[in-house]
Amino acid sequence: MKKYLVDDAEYSVWGRGVGPILLFAHGFPFDGAIFEPVISRLCSEFLCVVPDLRGFGGSSLGANGHNPKGAPRVKMGRFADDLAILESEIVCERGDSPETTKIFLCGLSMGGYVSLAFARRRPERLAGLIFCDSNAAADSPEKAAERNNLAETIDRAGIPALADKMIPNLLSPKTLAEKPDVVATLREIIERQSPEAIAAGARGMAVRSDSTPFLPEISIPTLVLGGADDKLSPPDSLDAIAAAIPNATRATIPNAGHLPPLENPDAFADAILNWRETTFWSR
Ligand code: MLT
Repeated sequence: MKKYLVDDAEYSVWGRGVGPILLFAHGFPFDGAIFEPVISRLCSEFLCVVPDLRGFGGSSLGANGHNPKGAPRVKMGRFADDLAILESEIVCERGDSPETTKIFLCGLSMGGYVSLAFARRRPERLAGLIFCDSNAAADSPEKAAERNNLAETIDRAGIPALADKMIPNLLSPKTLAEKPDVVATLREIIERQSPEAIAAGARGMAVRSDSTPFLPEISIPTLVLGGADDKLSPPDSLDAIAAAIPNATRATIPNAGHLPPLENPDAFADAILNWRETTFWSR
């Protein structure tokens, strides 16, 4: 695990592998550990760079992790700007030129919102986008209110109850019934997040804009991935997102809900490796 100063926040990042950079952006309220089970499969083809986003895991929230009133809030664009600073630092560290070196970006759920913000702001930095278990639309007013309420009320003692509420919706029935180790790992990941990070992410997601009109403008090769049993970003909604992106490939991961990298890591890694081979090597 390495520390990088990213603007005003200290980012905790681990990396492994060789080849082009594959930068990961995790979902909410998790940290980079949700990608841990797929890294050993992907590291022969990519330098996998796995940060904990601002405030989550081992990364600090920083002064810019707050809204003007001082309450924790990180907008998706802020996370995207952080990732841009981080990737250019790593590109330079490797002795590569930021002018000619492009990266792959894989964002899951909240990380998917971040990846769309990144693609909108810095399309020239991307060789490919992997959009997983996420949505393009903004929150409904009801959903935004629910998130703001969570941000106002969450404290350390409330996090186990939040995990209890979320886990049945995050994992597939098969994972819940047959993989107690995955359930336990997910619970551990949620329970180690700070209330400030949870509030910051919830408030940031509540104010994100609708990215649907932007989808047809994404010209880089994009893999749209999702668990077959994902209740939060169901397969038909991901089909529609893939249909709206000109150069998209769609893959569905069996026996997985919202978190395929934890639930079915081999199928998740295979989908990325197959996409890379068919999309980039066959030209
Ligand atoms: C996530 O996994 O990041 C969340 O489901 C995103 C959300 O709450 O919209």
